[in-house]
Amino acid sequence: MGYTGRAEWRKHYAEGKGFRQLGDAERALLAAHTPVPEEGGRVLEVGCGTGELTAYLASLGYQVDAVDFAESALARAQQEHADTEGVRWLCLDIERDDPRELHGDGYDLVVMRLVYPFLRDRSRMLHSLAERLSPAGALVVITPTAEHTPAERRDIALDEDEIKTLVAGWQRAERFDADELAVLVLRGPCHSNTTEGEKRRL
Ligand SMILES: C[S@@+](CC[C@H](N)C(=O)[O-])C[C@H]1O[C@@H](n2cnc3c(N)ncnc32)[C@H](O)[C@@H]1O
Repeated sequence: MGYTGRAEWRKHYAEGKGFRQLGDAERALLAAHTPVPEEGGRVLEVGCGTGELTAYLASLGYQVDAVDFAESALARAQQEHADTEGVRWLCLDIERDDPRELHGDGYDLVVMRLVYPFLRDRSRMLHSLAERLSPAGALVVITPTAEHTPAERRDIALDEDEIKTLVAGWQRAERFDADELAVLVLRGPCHSNTTEGEKRRL
């Protein structure tokens, strides 16, 4: 597929295309393992696309900061979820832009769905997102696995070594299956090392 550049993502959404819809198994896992804290909770969704997951998290009661760097995705998200309350739609390249719009007090949940394999420097991003978690917070990565992905689309998935690297160093890491997507629930603090091996080839 090779949608690695911002221009390609913009084009993808401008052409009316989307991605795999959020499934019931994903919804159930999120509701069960990352419920909204009693006093209310804040989520950062990175790479929100057209906002289906953001809208679901908002329906659970979270305040959501929904980030994507494709303006065309955010335009569709805002239109499709115009009635959804508690969401800030933020156009940001999470790896390169100034993060000042993100919440300074951190997040109870950071979630990336079908996004992690596309990051240019995975380890750096992992550390920077881990630092945004509140002490009891969780980072959730939902991703296709190489095992269930055709070879020609391997770049959208993680293999077992990549998953091992991703979960290493977290105080608690749980793995679930949602219709052949891996759902990784990671809790901090995160002490894994940044390695060159985790940088995506551009
Ligand atoms: C495969 S799509 C998944 C979209 C959505 N999470 C979903 O499940 O339908 C990957 C998304 O990540 C966004 N993205 C990729 N790299 C990004 C970055 N560095 N900063 C912000 N968004 C990014 C793309 O624009 C795209 O919307």
